Amino acid sequence: MGRIFSGVQPSGNLTLGNYLGAIRNWVKLQNDHECIFCVVDMHAITVWQDPEALRRATREVAAGMLASGVDPKKNIIFNQSAVSGHAELGWILNCVSRLGWLNRMTQFKEKAGKHKENASVGLYVYPNLMAADILLYKGTHVPVGDDQKQHLELARDIAQKFNNDFGREVFPLPEPMIFGSATRVMSLRDGTKKMSKSDPSEYSRISMTDDADMIAKKVRKAKTDPHPVPDSVEACGDRPEAKNLMNIFAALSDQELKEVCAEYGGQSFADFKRALTDLAVSKLAPISEEMQRYMDDPAQVDAILKDGAERANAIAAPVLKEVKEVVGF
Ligand code: ADP
Ligand code: NA
Repeated sequence: MGRIFSGVQPSGNLTLGNYLGAIRNWVKLQNDHECIFCVVDMHAITVWQDPEALRRATREVAAGMLASGVDPKKNIIFNQSAVSGHAELGWILNCVSRLGWLNRMTQFKEKAGKHKENASVGLYVYPNLMAADILLYKGTHVPVGDDQKQHLELARDIAQKFNNDFGREVFPLPEPMIFGSATRVMSLRDGTKKMSKSDPSEYSRISMTDDADMIAKKVRKAKTDPHPVPDSVEACGDRPEAKNLMNIFAALSDQELKEVCAEYGGQSFADFKRALTDLAVSKLAPISEEMQRYMDDPAQVDAILKDGAERANAIAAPVLKEVKEVVGF
C-alpha cells in the first residue's frame, strides 16, 4: 500500500468522535504503513478562531494524538501551516475544482448555517484545500470518519481532473479507509447531527479532556426515548439517539452492536448509561492524563511538530516542483 494522510482540525477540544472515528484507528495503521498525520490549523480558521486558543488547540490535538499512542518516530506528525506547500497546491487546485462540485458539499451547508452570505470563502473552498493536503504527498489512502466521505470523493475528482487536464498521471486517486462500528458518532443532544468539537452545545459531545464527573453528567443528560434498551440491531432502527449510545458502547468495548443489544437489551437506559459512563471513563482517563502531561510541556510538543514539518516538507517539495512544472510555472 502507498501513503496514508489524515488530519484533525484544532477548532476546539478533541471529541470522542475524533478518537473513535479517526485517531484510534491511526494507532492500528502505524506499524505497517507510511503515515502522515496533520493538525490542520489552516482548516480551523475557515471559521473564527481566537489566536491564543488556536495555538493551544493545535498543541492539544497533537497531544491527543501522542497520548492515544500515535508514535512520532513511526509517523510524521505536524501542523499544516508549517508546510507552505499546502497553501500553494491549494491555490492550484482551486483553479481545477469546479463551483458546481463545491455546491454539492453538504458540510458547507451545515457549517454555514442560515447566514451563507456571511460564511468565509475559505469555508466554501475548504474541500479543495483538503484535496491539496492529501495530494501534496501523493497520498493514496485516507482513514476518515464517514462524515468526510463526500470531501474525499471530491479530492478524487480533483486529482482525476488535474491528471486529465494536463495529460499526466501526476496524482494517484486517494481512497477512503473507513473502520468499524463508530464511523459516525452522533451528537448526544440530536441523533441526526454528528458529534463535533465545533458544535456550540457542550453537552452534545464528550471531550477527550473531560473528567469522570463531566463524562457522567453528559451521558446522564444524553437524549434518549422512554423505551428500554433495544434488544436487536433491527429494534435500533428508528431510535437514533438510543442507537448512537449503543454504537459508542460497542466501539469503546470492541464489540459489535448486536452483542451490546444482546447484553443490555430490555434494561433501562438509566442502567445502560451508568455502564457506558464507567466504560468511557476507563478508556479515556489514561489518555487524558497523558494529554495533560504533554500540555504541561509545550516545548516538547512544539519540537515534535517542528521535526514532523521538516520531514513532511521533504516529501512535499519534489511533488510541488513537479506540479509547478506540469502547470507551466
Ligand atoms: P470535528 O467536526 O470534530 O471538528 P474534524 O473535521 O477535525 O472533526 O475531523 C477529524 C477526523 O475525525 C476526521 O477523520 C473525521 O472523519 C473524524 N470525525 C470527526 N467527527 C466525527 C464523528 N462524529 N464520528 C466519527 N468520526 C469523526
Ligand atoms: Na469537521
